[in-house]
Amino acid sequence: MLSSTLLCIAGALLASAHTVITYPGWRGNNLITDEDFPYGMQWMYPCGGIPLTSNRTFWPVTGGAIAFQPGWFQGHSTAFIYINMGLGTEGPDHGPANMSLAMVPPFQIIGPTKNPFPGTMCLPQVPLPANVHVKAGDNATIQVVELALHGASLFSCVDITFVEPNDSRLEEVTEDNCFNSTDIGFADIYTLTVRASGQTLATGGAARQLLPFLSWLPVVFGGMWLLL
Ligand SMILES: *[C@@H]1O[C@H](CO)[C@@H](O)[C@H](O)[C@H]1NC(C)=O
Ligand SMILES: *[C@@H]1O[C@H](CO)[C@@H](O)[C@H](O)[C@H]1NC(C)=O
Ligand SMILES: *[C@@H]1O[C@H](CO)[C@@H](O)[C@H](O)[C@H]1NC(C)=O
Ligand SMILES: *[C@@H]1O[C@H](CO)[C@@H](O)[C@H](O)[C@H]1NC(C)=O
Ligand SMILES: *[C@@H]1O[C@H](CO)[C@@H](O)[C@H](O)[C@H]1NC(C)=O
Repeated sequence: MLSSTLLCIAGALLASAHTVITYPGWRGNNLITDEDFPYGMQWMYPCGGIPLTSNRTFWPVTGGAIAFQPGWFQGHSTAFIYINMGLGTEGPDHGPANMSLAMVPPFQIIGPTKNPFPGTMCLPQVPLPANVHVKAGDNATIQVVELALHGASLFSCVDITFVEPNDSRLEEVTEDNCFNSTDIGFADIYTLTVRASGQTLATGGAARQLLPFLSWLPVVFGGMWLLL
């Protein structure tokens, strides 16, 4: 009873905040489910159903802070987060043609519950994508992707214009707009290659890689039998 009351209060607070990317800004409220977006706007690639905007915000040419609230949707307490940049005006909405330039390695967030949860997280110094060079006045779009447990993704974007880091139009990064809530944990993501592209199982390194597993499996099970 008490916890459901608390959840309602938390939900009301979240709903009144109306933001997902909290720094440096976002394209607009896409936490909407209606006739046009019966499954919810935020699932739409590339920017959660909102086309390119012209009320851009400013972001440093040297890279800078990105803060957002990942806990708006029910059904998953953990998710993978990707932060990408799009450049150019070749897209259908005259924005970027794609959002394929990764800014940080993907990482996992660990929320407290499967229900919507409060909390903000902030990466204080996100660099530009590798090999991307910009100058003050250039435009770009930053995309935050939240890959849910079932494989679908939530998208949110902010359209930016690059400025020098000492530009007075930059919103100052402070402990109030860039912080990590204790609600949200983090984990690194690792992959383990079990078979490289082009390798056959019979002759490739994969078979050798699997062998250690195959040989210790009986040991584990054997040990369990002994315990029984
Ligand atoms: C742009 O305008 C929309 C609609 O008023 C607003 O929701 C959004 O926060 C604005 N974006 C920025 C970066 O100011
Ligand atoms: C950047 O975007 C703004 C507003 O959308 C536009 O007025 C400006 O011409 C663009 N700048 C460049 C260099 O394309
Ligand atoms: C993404 O867009 C950029 C800029 O238009 C382009 O150079 C690049 O080839 C595109 N990448 C992919 C994977 O489509
Ligand atoms: C801001 O930085 C630029 C380049 O680093 C420099 O040329 C300019 O003088 C600086 N402006 C101010 C107001 O400090
Ligand atoms: C928030 O946590 C992430 C992941 O551990 C870390 O990279 C980042 O620097 C933290 N942000 C702040 C404002 O301390």
